[in-house]
Parts: sequence; C-alpha cells; structure tokens
Amino acid sequence: MDASTYSAPETLRDGRAVTIRAIRASDKQAMLDAFHGLEAQTIYLRLFTAHGEPSEQTLREWTEVDFDKLVRLVVCLPRPGADEQIIGGASFAMLEPGNPAAGAEVSFTIEEDFQGQGLGGKLLAHLARIARARGIRHFVAEVLPENHPMLAVFERSGLPTTLQRGEGVVHVNMLLPG
Ligand SMILES: CC(C)(COP(=O)(O)OP(=O)(O)OC[C@H]1O[C@@H](n2cnc3c(N)ncnc32)[C@H](O)[C@@H]1OP(=O)(O)O)[C@@H](O)C(=O)NCCC(=O)NCCS
Repeated sequence: MDASTYSAPETLRDGRAVTIRAIRASDKQAMLDAFHGLEAQTIYLRLFTAHGEPSEQTLREWTEVDFDKLVRLVVCLPRPGADEQIIGGASFAMLEPGNPAAGAEVSFTIEEDFQGQGLGGKLLAHLARIARARGIRHFVAEVLPENHPMLAVFERSGLPTTLQRGEGVVHVNMLLPG
C-alpha cells in the first residue's frame, strides 16, 4: 500500500461526504487556514502548549511528509466553487524509523465545528490499516487526563487498549492485531 496516495471516501454523522487522504505538499495554504480556524483549547490539547503562527519551516514539516517515518492523513470537505477545506487530520510517527516492531505514536486534530462527528475513530481506523500493512503492531499516544473525547476514541476503537496514568499525562497503548 502506498500511503502517499492514500484516499478513502467517508461520511460525517450529519451525512456530509468527506475524503480522508494523504497530505500533500500543495496543502500548505489549506493547512494554514485550518490552523487559523482552531481554538486555543484544541491547540493546547493537541500540542500540550500554546502555539504561535506557524513558520514556513513548520508548514513544510506539516505538509512535506516522507510517508516512511511519518504518515499524515487529512479530512477534506468539498466546498462549492472553492478549494476543499481541511477540517482535521491525524498522523503516526515511527518510534524507531526502520523498525516497525517498535510501534508508532499517533496524534489527532479535528476542527471544533466537526468534533463529535466520529472523525477521530475513522482516522484511527485508516491509520491502523496503513500501519498494519507495514508490520506495525502497536500504536502509542500521550493524552492529557482531561481529554475525554480522545480517550473515548481509543477505548471505542475495538483495538485492545491499555491506559497507564502518569504525572499529568495518560500513556495509551493499542495493539494492532495482524
Ligand atoms: C480528540 C479528538 C481528536 C476526537 O475526535 P472526534 O472526531 O471529535 O471524535 P468523536 O466524534 O469520535 O467523539 C469522541 C467522543 O468525544 C465526544 N466529543 C467530541 N468532541 C467533543 C467536544 N468538543 N466536547 C465534548 N465532547 C466531545 C463525542 O461526543 C464522542 O462521545 P460520544 O460518542 O459519547 O458522543 C478531537 O476532539 C480533537 O481534535 N480534540 C482537540 C485536539 C486533541 O485533543 N488531540 C489529541 C491529542 S493526541
């Protein structure tokens, strides 16, 4: 499976059609627009810190992805007469590049207006599909303890999941059965 050309149709809970696809280098403006639409709380839950205006370097890191050490998918909503809107995304990063057995770390961001539409779970399922195909057998994540939506997505994924509560953070481990 070539993750860099991955694309799949999906439907939001409210019935709207979206596409979940691999991020592209040409997504820089759409990613910047998506970032500008985020509330501070979402950025904090995702990054555990505030985040200023993304630099050109940051935008390159977000969009020019190797799909080897890092796989990033975005959720795109078509807009009549305009470019599609990026309304969320998720990625996994290999913990040890070249060693799928070491697993990968996942992270997610959904625009506030589109949270609660089931996108977190759908993105996780697509990432798991890509990861399994390359021999990755577990995902890890670090989640703030108050982030119940993220923990709910992991616990309802159907993947065997363990949670370990640490100092101000929950360490999540999910098995990806072959
Ligand atoms: C965490 C996150 C990725 C979940 O994605 P999602 O697409 O909203 O997930 P779901 O639609 O499957 O919702 C999961 C559960 O959380 C609830 N939920 C989602 N967004 C919520 C919100 N803003 N406030 C309260 N509850 C919310 C949903 O209702 C759902 O519970 P339910 O099935 O009982 O209704 C998304 O909320 C997000 O981007 N949060 C900010 C960034 C973040 O926390 N990233 C994770 C860092 S690893």
